[in-house]
Amino acid sequence: MAHSLEFKNIGKLYPGVKALDDISFRTEGGKVLALMGENGAGKSTLLKILAGDIKQSEGIYLLDGKEQDFKNPHEAILAGVSVIYQERQMIPALSVAENIYAGFLPKKGGGIDRKTLYANAQKIIDKFGLHMDAHTKVARLSVAYQQMVEIMKAYSRNPTVICFDEPTASLSDAEISALFRIISELKEEGKIILYVSHRMAEIFQVADSIVVLKDGKYVTSMDVADASEEKLIRAMVGRDIGDTYANLKRNDKYGDVVLEVKNLNNAKVHDVSLTIRRGEVVGLAGLVGAGRTELVRAIFAADKVTSGEIILDGQPVHFKSPHDAIKAGIALCPEDRKEQGLVLFRSIRENTTMPVLSELKKGAFLDKKKEKEIAQEAIEKYDIRTDTMEKLTTQLSGGNQQKVILGRWTNSLMKTKLLILDEPTKGIDVGTKAEIYQMVCDIASQGIGVIFISSETPEVIGVADTIYVMHNGRITGQLKREEATEEKILALAMD
Ligand SMILES: Nc1ncnc2c1ncn2[C@@H]1O[C@H](COP(=O)(O)OP(=O)(O)OP(=O)(O)O)[C@@H](O)[C@H]1O
Ligand SMILES: [Mg+2]
Repeated sequence: MAHSLEFKNIGKLYPGVKALDDISFRTEGGKVLALMGENGAGKSTLLKILAGDIKQSEGIYLLDGKEQDFKNPHEAILAGVSVIYQERQMIPALSVAENIYAGFLPKKGGGIDRKTLYANAQKIIDKFGLHMDAHTKVARLSVAYQQMVEIMKAYSRNPTVICFDEPTASLSDAEISALFRIISELKEEGKIILYVSHRMAEIFQVADSIVVLKDGKYVTSMDVADASEEKLIRAMVGRDIGDTYANLKRNDKYGDVVLEVKNLNNAKVHDVSLTIRRGEVVGLAGLVGAGRTELVRAIFAADKVTSGEIILDGQPVHFKSPHDAIKAGIALCPEDRKEQGLVLFRSIRENTTMPVLSELKKGAFLDKKKEKEIAQEAIEKYDIRTDTMEKLTTQLSGGNQQKVILGRWTNSLMKTKLLILDEPTKGIDVGTKAEIYQMVCDIASQGIGVIFISSETPEVIGVADTIYVMHNGRITGQLKREEATEEKILALAMD
């Protein structure tokens, strides 16, 4: 008999929100069920319940027809449930192998059997086809590789149910294909797979069926064979959003060059030159590890520059720290909201106004009214789903956290000349994605230069006016939007 998993009337109450309300559905082994829905719909909450991480307020779940009630994650793991969370949970100071087998280290005598540990970990790494050494400290890995370690950790436990919450948000094509290969093997082995993603194309690639949630409620379910992008968007958003890229109102008036980078070098970036004009959206395309994040971090003085020139508004600049860069009018919205930027135990209000606090000073005091206006602006602009601006960001859904970061770096008090957006739509729902694209164009129309980094190539082609492709820390090509195709970009990205 095939394995089965069933949710019956699941509800979850948080103070002020019903995160889940009467959710029922069933799935079985050998199938991938995609959970879809806007930011804050309740997808991660459902997975957290199944993982024994939080307790539902109502309802039950059954594995192979038997009611389960996991008191903690360890119980869930022992019962064969593995969940890979949206937020990474690695221990950076430990090795890849130690992270994969955390809590389940092979023992020998009184201690850890290191030989078996590293041999087993390396076997999994090889199975995934990754160039990674089991001894490497996780802290030294890129975000993408850390995510892959997380996935290998879940896989190593040989689970019956395996849940992926936005697994590809920081992966690029090579890792994604490795992941999809593993998922199809898991399917063949008869595992139950739950898959959460905001990337439509992926859903059609991996899923067999889809359940759509909205505001904590069940909306509909369908087989992938009967699904279309329009149908899904309507179910998730409650309306049509049309052809996102064709409907964009773009800026076509460029001003002077705002930023010029000449022969920039550091440990990760090699001989990079590029120019951005006021009002222009410059896209950076490439595979994960291509050096795009490293390039913008060098411009922003978050990383050292060893040689080359950075010229802002015609003046050579030598920033000592990101603080200098911000003062000069450069804003960087980082890729990894957890590590860089978001203060989880502060409110939305505090997080969105952080860089403009000095602007908000009224004598010795803070202009509370203005501060609230700025926070409210972010909430409305990005449709941050919350009942109050005092909510701590740790209590927001993954996508809504990302929106807080966007709100912070694009608020109307910032005197930004150059806005750098590193993977701004990571984990963001379809409806808001479309709004972000328009916002990028609007920001450009105000005469701001924009650098837009995305690993979703169609997005770069759809939004950027000029596209630079990177590979191994170098720029391998430059394309105008009209001439750009996914094939051309991929060819340059693998140069
Ligand atoms: N610890 C918490 N305290 C209060 N509210 C919470 C907490 N965790 C989640 N919520 C709320 O529960 C709702 C559902 O959140 P959930 O994280 O499940 O959304 P999601 O569908 O995973 O969204 P995303 O696509 O953005 O990750 C949201 O309104 C969120 O603010
Ligand atoms: Mg989530």
